[in-house]
Parts: sequence; C-alpha cells; structure tokens
Amino acid sequence: MAYILGIESSCDETAASVVEDGRRILSNVISSQADFHMQYGGVVPELASRMHVDAVYQVVEKALGDAGVGLEDIEAIAVTYGPGLVGALLVGVSCAKGLAAVSGKPLVPVHHLKGHIAANYLCFPELEPPFLTLLVSGGNTMIVKVNDYCDMEIIGRTLDDAAGEAFDKIARVIGLGYPGGPKMDKAGQGGDINAYRFSVPKTGSRFDFSFSGIKTNALNMINESKMKGEEIDLRDFTASYQDHIAHYLLDHTLAAVEATGIRKICLAGGVSANSFIRALFDKAGAENGLDLYYPGLGLCTDNAAMIASCGYYEYINGNRAGLDLNARPSLDL
Ligand code: KG4
Repeated sequence: MAYILGIESSCDETAASVVEDGRRILSNVISSQADFHMQYGGVVPELASRMHVDAVYQVVEKALGDAGVGLEDIEAIAVTYGPGLVGALLVGVSCAKGLAAVSGKPLVPVHHLKGHIAANYLCFPELEPPFLTLLVSGGNTMIVKVNDYCDMEIIGRTLDDAAGEAFDKIARVIGLGYPGGPKMDKAGQGGDINAYRFSVPKTGSRFDFSFSGIKTNALNMINESKMKGEEIDLRDFTASYQDHIAHYLLDHTLAAVEATGIRKICLAGGVSANSFIRALFDKAGAENGLDLYYPGLGLCTDNAAMIASCGYYEYINGNRAGLDLNARPSLDL
C-alpha cells in the first residue's frame, strides 16, 4: 500500500491530496482563486503566484489531516512541474522540494496533462491502458494515445487556441464573465443547437484542431448582430456554439479511433465537464460501440488527486526528481 502526496499549483488552484495506490482518494483539498480573478476577466499570473504562496502549506496540512496520515506515512511526494504559469508552478515545486528535503521522501515530477488523464483512474478502478484520451483544458487540446501508464504519444493537437480559450473568450464577449466554460454550459441549456451555424476549420490533418477560426467566426456574428441593432439569442447562440465545438471534437476523436483501432476513450481536462460534449459523445459512443470514460465533474478541472494518481504510476516506474527540480512552463508531453 503506497500513499502518495500530490501537490498542484499550475494555474489558479492551490491543491493537495493523498491517494492510495493511484486509485483511492483519501483527501482532496482545493483552494481556488477563480472568484478572485473573476474581477480581471482571467487569471493574473503575478497575483496567482502570490496567492499560491499564501495557501500552499495550509492546503498540504489539511490534505494530510483529512487523510489521517502524517508525512512519515507518505511513500513519495508528487508535484506538477509543468506546463503552466511559471510563477505559479514554482510555488508547488518549492513546497514539494522543502517537504522532500525535510522528510527524506522521494520527489516525483508530474506532467500536468498526464495528471488530467489520470483523473480517470480515480473514477474507474477497472480502467487500464491502452486507450485514447481527448484532452480538452484551458490551455491545451489534444488527442493522446495512452499506450501504458507512463508511455503516451500525441496523435493530434490544436495548432492555435485551446478549446477552453474558445469557451472563455466568447463567454467574456457575450457578458457571461470568467470562467466562461461552466457559465456558457449553463446559459445554453434547452437552447436550439441549430439556430446558428459556425465554420469548420481545416488544419490539413484529420487529428489536429484549430479553434481560432471558430472563435473569430463567433465574434464576427456577434459584431454583425450588434451593427444591425439586433440582439443574439443568448440561449440559442451558446447552445449552437457548444454543439458545434462538441461535433468538431467528436469528428477528430472518431478519426483517431479509426486510425488506431482503439475503441476505449477517456475524456480529460476542464472542458470535458461540458454537458453538450458529454451528451454528443454518449450518443456517438452508443452508435459506434465505444467504451467511454469521463472523470467525475470535480476531477475534470485542476486538482491534486489526479497528480497523486499519476505520481503513483511515475513512482513505480522509477521516475524521480532531485532537489534541483525546476518549473517547466512549456513542458511537452
Ligand atoms: O483543466 P482546467 O481546470 O485547467 C487547465 O489545466 O487548463 O480547465 C479549465 C478550463 C477553462 O477554460 C474553463 O472554462 C473550462 O475548463 N471548463 C468548461 C466547463 N468547466 C470548465 N468548459 C466548458 N464547459 C464546462 N462545463
């Protein structure tokens, strides 16, 4: 039995968690800055770093306390070291290094996006690689072939914006505020998904994405309506926009299924909480005989349980960091 302490601070959530053997959550503490950054319409990196400094030790203490364990019971300390905001990452990395230094426990570096994928292991005890993951978060969008717990390859990725940015930017322009994804999800419930039509960007690859064109297309529609003195119908517009993005993600995922022959698919990342995406994937899954896995809503967005889960597999795979571990803001998968 191995307890892993996970620490996450890559963006605007300070989080710590204790997970047993990569699968069972003993504690999962998240201190979110989202309400604070709302007034600025997005995350302010400098302020995020300072708030992580305020929160990180209390969050770690609470995670150990909630799990009913002490640092001495922990097998290894896993920490997100990239990708993310450099100043934010440095806080979690420095905290983890301090804890590793005083306790003598191994330090395990975790890739944030691999963590998002591991969120599925916490929800589905039977889930094992190989599988495909559609990873859709605030800063990344990709299709990943997960060959094994620590062996994965990107088979498609966005060439510009991430899916989350396509949600957040348009939500801001139509006055829904930050973070836009969940607000847009709510605003579009019951709307007509065929009321507005958007373009389908071409990337030259069946697996790569582009979201900047869809975003510009939506912005142009909003501006044209304004110039004509008309109001867009918020419910129908957001429903159509989300359904369009859901189809775009699904088409590429189905192309990856066809190319790899892998029919087991996980969704991961904050945008995978979206109800339009889940509904469309459910329908397509039933029609195409796919085995679909979605993390529970609380584990889609940033948390440290997913980092502890991923850290467990990295740990048993022999992955260790020294006390010279640094933040890697643009770390590739
Ligand atoms: O995975 P995440 O917490 O952070 C990154 O690691 O990037 O993802 C945050 C993103 C934001 O863009 C947020 O708007 C989006 O996830 N998001 C959603 C929903 N919930 C969160 N997007 C669409 N629908 C949702 N229900």
